[in-house]
Amino acid sequence: MLYVTRREVFSASHRLHNPDLSQKENEELFDKCNNYYGHGHNYVLEVIVAGKPNPQTGYVIDLKVLRDIIREHVIKKLDHKHLNYDVDFMKGINPTAENIAIAIWDQLEDKISEGKLYSVKLYETENNYVEFKGEN
Ligand code: NI
Repeated sequence: MLYVTRREVFSASHRLHNPDLSQKENEELFDKCNNYYGHGHNYVLEVIVAGKPNPQTGYVIDLKVLRDIIREHVIKKLDHKHLNYDVDFMKGINPTAENIAIAIWDQLEDKISEGKLYSVKLYETENNYVEFKGEN
């Protein structure tokens, strides 16, 4: 099996908040990330597709095609947006890196034209990232 990766970046703001908890509990749990008007990150997204090289092209998936799929279905919708308010597929979701990665997976899974979506890695800071490999 071969794994090909495309990296894309986007900038977005978010606020971590669980409406089922009190304001005090939210502040204790999310600290600065609960700031009422939100705060921003420069996110780095890595999308990994697994497969065998197509004998005709030698590609698992043409990385230009993968780039365009990610930009169309993810980056265009997230870049320079507030993840709590502006993004249709994030409505009602607490935008932790974990939940953003799952939402990105759900956007991409059936759009990958060759190979199979293997992993969505999302770096929220230089030191913190999450990786989602699907439910199975
Ligand atoms: Ni944050």
